[in-house]
Amino acid sequence: MTLRLGVNIDHVATVRNARGTNYPDPVAAALIAAQAGADGITAHLREDRRHITDADIARLAAELAIPLNLEMAATDEMLAIALRHRPHAACIVPEKREERTTEGGIDAAGQHDRLARIVAALGAAGVRVSLFIEPDPRQIEAAVRLGAPVVELHTGRYAELNGPEDAGARAAELRRLSDAAALAAKNGIEVHAGHGLTVGNVAPVAAIPQVRELNIGHALIADALFVGLGEAVRAMRTAMDAARG
Ligand code: PXP
Repeated sequence: MTLRLGVNIDHVATVRNARGTNYPDPVAAALIAAQAGADGITAHLREDRRHITDADIARLAAELAIPLNLEMAATDEMLAIALRHRPHAACIVPEKREERTTEGGIDAAGQHDRLARIVAALGAAGVRVSLFIEPDPRQIEAAVRLGAPVVELHTGRYAELNGPEDAGARAAELRRLSDAAALAAKNGIEVHAGHGLTVGNVAPVAAIPQVRELNIGHALIADALFVGLGEAVRAMRTAMDAARG
């Protein structure tokens, strides 16, 4: 099974917004990523609009020839925006205003009623819904109950366990990821993964056979500063394909 790469362009907008200019343009970045082999573009419209803006989402929805995956909180405001633009996919993420990035997965088990309404409304509009969850069997079971067609497994903990003293915990976290992927796939749910992945740590996650898509942002935009975005995307693809064998 092929492994798709979704390129998250949020941090192109972070650089733009740091100066209040209209460059660098995340839509231009998305087009470069697409040309370099990205299978999709991911963008997170946060409640505080700290990077991607409503206008960016409108332009991405209008201008992209590859699928757009809108990351969104489970709120009525975001649901209305998603229904207006009908992206190919929407990934429901937890959101806290004070966090630096999406720190954990959504509590699919604890928020059944609110999520059920949003998953159903997006699904009815033809938007493929994924839930960004921790690699935890209880969350997979909740995703099954919600009828979510896709889950995205949070790889942040795996990515943070990167020191020599972390080898045991890292192996355990990888096992949690592969067990969660197997459980989801067994229940007919498509498996994605992302957060904190880099060209250096992507291989073991890319090698999990049930994983169909990786969504990667921060490290790609960081690499792009040195080698250009096209080259950064190509290097990530090469690392993913090599791991897949
Ligand atoms: N997947 C989800 C659901 C996310 O929220 C993020 C961060 O916006 C990513 C993937 C990408 O994470 P990173 O920027 O660390 O590659």
